Amino acid sequence: MAGAVKPDGDITFPQELLFFIDEWKVKPGSLIMILHKTQETFGYISRPSAEKLSLLTGISLARIYGVITFYHFFKTTKPGKHRISVCLGTACYLKGAQDLLDETRKVLGIKTDEVTSDGQFSVDPVRCVGCCGLAPVLTVGNDTFGKITKGMIPDIISKYKNL
Ligand code: FES
Repeated sequence: MAGAVKPDGDITFPQELLFFIDEWKVKPGSLIMILHKTQETFGYISRPSAEKLSLLTGISLARIYGVITFYHFFKTTKPGKHRISVCLGTACYLKGAQDLLDETRKVLGIKTDEVTSDGQFSVDPVRCVGCCGLAPVLTVGNDTFGKITKGMIPDIISKYKNL
């Protein structure tokens, strides 16, 4: 992952992100785009990142946090090494995806927005991932698993435990 947190809590943004912010900060509605790009870069939006964004854009930290907390898409905690996403789009939801989400968290012993204590796994609900014919669908990183049942979840997780 690009960028590094310095000991004083400041954070180094990669050039690509700095250019993006420079290009977008003058456009209307830029904050959402900038937050998306920041999360894409780091996987989440840390406090040092939010502070730096405030400095670079002139947008108050309160407003930045207002947007981050309004949209569930934005994360303020570092995700697990393996990011599990459970699709809650309509097709998946109708086939029990909420139960799969609950079961995945139960198997991992974590709650909403938590990461397993070893830093390996985090779980998030997502909207349609584009393969509704396979509903219900769960992804781990770039891997997609379809027609999932609750009983399959421990096996799927164990495949990634030592990776
Ligand atoms: S609704 Fe889940 S893949 Fe489309």
